[in-house]
Amino acid sequence: MENHESSSDKPALSQWIESLIEIVLSYYANLISHPFKSGLVYFLGGLLHALFVGWILFPVALYSKQVQPIHFNHAIHADPEITEGGTELERCLACHGFREDGSFAGIPKLETCVECHDDPESPLGEHPEEERFLKEYVAKEKEIPWLVYSKQPDCVYFSHIAHVNMGKLECRTCHGDHGKSELLPRYEKNRLTGISRNIWGKNIAGLKFNTWDRMKMDDCAECHTKKGHEENNACFVCHK
Ligand code: HEC
Ligand code: HEC
Ligand code: HEC
Ligand code: HEC
Ligand code: HEC
Repeated sequence: MENHESSSDKPALSQWIESLIEIVLSYYANLISHPFKSGLVYFLGGLLHALFVGWILFPVALYSKQVQPIHFNHAIHADPEITEGGTELERCLACHGFREDGSFAGIPKLETCVECHDDPESPLGEHPEEERFLKEYVAKEKEIPWLVYSKQPDCVYFSHIAHVNMGKLECRTCHGDHGKSELLPRYEKNRLTGISRNIWGKNIAGLKFNTWDRMKMDDCAECHTKKGHEENNACFVCHK
């Protein structure tokens, strides 16, 4: 996934921000030393200033960033060597299955993990993250407080069984490549609404290039219309 916390993209971004700050500062320095420059310079400077505040400072300030309690590696766990299941979907459902009443199990509880990670003293691999997981959660029998990227506000009704079984939609259509990820991206929460940034969309302008980039009300309705299920676009269908 492109929004991983890889060590390489952080310096690049901060360098980019730094050079932008430099440009803005040199603009002010210029203004002080040459107060009577043409209007164009003022216009460009103003534009730059607005872009800096609107595209960089505002989004940085708008979202609080939280790190997941541990890193979970989907690529390892969804591999047929580790999780049983002929198709990829069966392997996803081994952890994210449906209960007998059709409700979605969501993120698996510790009891699913300890089917394999049963002994906190003997790790299955050599990954340091597993050691931390065994020590802090398995040994203490403590649930992991995962942060849910796709979490909708409480007023929204959504059921996985309708979309996965009846609608025959792939997980990827709404969640992108999360099921293949090796590291977890940071969870970003909108300070004003308290809602995950994934709902509004990851990129600054809220643009949508893939079906999974955003999941606002209009995105739900757009797919219902496209799939010939306009009957689900009445308010009471999604807001019970
Ligand atoms: C061994 C159990 C396991 C398997 C197998 C598994 N997952 Fe997960 N999944 C998890 C855990 C634990 C989390 C919570 C951490 C995280 O966000 O990745 C999670 C979270 C997710 C989320 C994030 C939901 C959100 O919005 O925060 C998605 C999407 C997801 N899994 C999709 C998949 C897909 C697709 C597959 C199959 C390719 C799959 N998972 C296989 C355990 C599993
Ligand atoms: C079907 C067996 C199985 C299940 C179920 C399972 N794991 Fe694992 N897990 C493994 C194996 C095997 C490894 C070692 C892989 C390696 O290091 O090569 C591993 C590695 C890990 C690691 C270290 C690699 C990483 O993800 O960074 C963590 C952490 C981890 N598991 C957490 C969990 C959690 C949390 C759950 C429950 C949601 C879970 N596992 C469920 C088999 C399983
Ligand atoms: C039509 C879009 C769509 C499809 C297809 C879909 N999901 Fe989701 N998923 C969502 C939405 C929306 C939420 C948030 C639901 C909410 O907050 O009420 C979510 C939430 C989740 C969560 C977090 C649940 C929790 O604990 O809160 C997991 C895990 C997850 N999905 C995994 C999957 C897997 C695995 C598949 C494929 C079998 C899948 N999803 C298919 C849209 C989808
Ligand atoms: C990629 C396509 C797609 C997206 C995105 C999507 N849906 Fe759907 N949805 C469907 C389809 C297809 C059906 C009809 C399933 C059937 O009945 O066969 C459906 C049915 C429903 C239903 C009626 C079935 C039920 O569970 O009562 C609700 C409610 C619903 N969707 C809510 C939502 C919400 C809320 C979102 C956004 C968070 C959303 N959907 C996003 C395709 C989509
Ligand atoms: C297909 C599903 C769907 C339908 C139909 C739908 N909504 Fe929504 N609605 C959502 C989702 C998802 C959100 C949360 C994401 C967002 O704010 O876009 C939402 C958010 C809202 C909010 C903001 C509430 C908050 O807590 O942020 C209001 C108000 C609202 N809807 C009213 C309506 C009204 C009125 C209608 C009928 C004209 C309607 N909705 C139809 C899915 C739906």
